Amino acid sequence: MKTVAIIRIFLVAVIGYFFLNWVGTTGETSIFIEEPWLWAFYGFIVLFYIAVEICIQALESVLYRTLSPENQKSYNEKAAFAKANQFKWFKETYKKLLGSKPIEEEGEIILDHNYDGIRELDNKLPPWWVYGFYVTILFAIIYMARFQIFGGVDQAEEYELAVAQAKIEIEEYKKTAKDLVDVNTVELLTDAGDLNTGKSIFEGNCAACHKVSGAGGIGPNLTDDHWILGGGIKNVFNTISEGGRAGKGMISWKSELKPSEMAQVASYVLSLHGTNPADPKEPEGEIWMDPLAPVEEVEVKVIDSTKIQVIIEDQPVTGDVVNDSIQ
Ligand code: HEC
Repeated sequence: MKTVAIIRIFLVAVIGYFFLNWVGTTGETSIFIEEPWLWAFYGFIVLFYIAVEICIQALESVLYRTLSPENQKSYNEKAAFAKANQFKWFKETYKKLLGSKPIEEEGEIILDHNYDGIRELDNKLPPWWVYGFYVTILFAIIYMARFQIFGGVDQAEEYELAVAQAKIEIEEYKKTAKDLVDVNTVELLTDAGDLNTGKSIFEGNCAACHKVSGAGGIGPNLTDDHWILGGGIKNVFNTISEGGRAGKGMISWKSELKPSEMAQVASYVLSLHGTNPADPKEPEGEIWMDPLAPVEEVEVKVIDSTKIQVIIEDQPVTGDVVNDSIQ
C-alpha cells in the first residue's frame, strides 16, 4: 500500500475517534466508556475506509493496465516525479530550520585552528534555536514585568485564591446538598432561616412532649445544661435521628424528617440553651461539656467538698460531686 494511503487511513482513524468523542460526550466521561458498543461502530468505519483505499488502488492498477505502452511510460515518469517530490516542502523547511551549509560550501566557514588535523566549522546557530532563545528573552521580560513590577498573582496567592474559591463552591454545594449531612458531618447551623425552619419543625413535632419553650414535659428539659443522651450538635442530632432509650417515648425521627430538617431542629434545640423558660422540668442527666470547646472558657471553683461550680463562658453552673463526677 502507498504511504499516503496509510497516512490517510491513520488520519481518518484519529479524526474519527476525536470527532465521535466530541459529538457524543456530554458529561465528564467519554462516550466510548459510557457506550462501549461505539467501539464496534468506530471499528466498522475504519475498516470501511481501509476498504475504500484498497478499492481506489485496485481501480488505479486496472486503469494502468488499459493504458498504451507510451502512456504507461509517461504515467510512470509522472508517478516517479511525484514520489520524489512527495515530502519536498517538509524536507526543505527542515533544512532551512537547521541553517547548516551544504558540504560543498564548508570551505567558507572552516576556522583557522588545526589541532593535529582536527578542524572546526563555524556553523551558524540553527534558526530554530536562535528564535527559541529570543522567545525566552521576551518571556523573561514579560514575566519579570508582570510579577515583579506589576505585582501579578504568584503561586502562593494563586493557592489562596483557589482555596477561597473552593470554599465558596463548597458552601454553594452544601446549600444544594443539605440532605447529605449525617451525624459525622452535621454542624451547628446559625443562619436565621435555618433556625426558623427548625423552630416550626419543633413546634409541629416536638412541642407536645418538650413544650414549645423546650422547658420539658413528657420529654426532658432541653434548655438546661443537663443532657441524658449528650449535648452538642452531634449528640442532639443523633438523638433526634435514632431516638432515645427504648421505651422512654422519644422515637427515631429519621424516617419522618429529612437529614437537613433534623440538623435544623437540632440547631434550634441548641439555640434554646440557657433561655430559662417558665415552669422548667427538673434537670435530668449530666452536665454536658463539649470536649471540643476551648478550655480557657471553663473555670472550676470548689465551693466545699460536696459542691463544685463550673463557669463555662461566664455562666456559672453548680453541681454536686458524686463519685468524682458532677451531677
Ligand atoms: C412522644 C413524646 C416526644 C416527642 C414527640 C419528642 N420527644 Fe424528644 N424526648 C422524649 C423523651 C421521653 C426523651 C427522653 C429519652 C430518654 O430518656 O432516652 C426525649 C429526649 C430528647 C432529647 C435528648 C434530651 C437529653 O437530655 O439528652 C432531645 C434532643 C429531643 N428529645 C429532641 C426532640 C425533638 C427535636 C423532637 C421533635 C422532632 C422530639 N424530641 C420529639 C419525648 C419526646
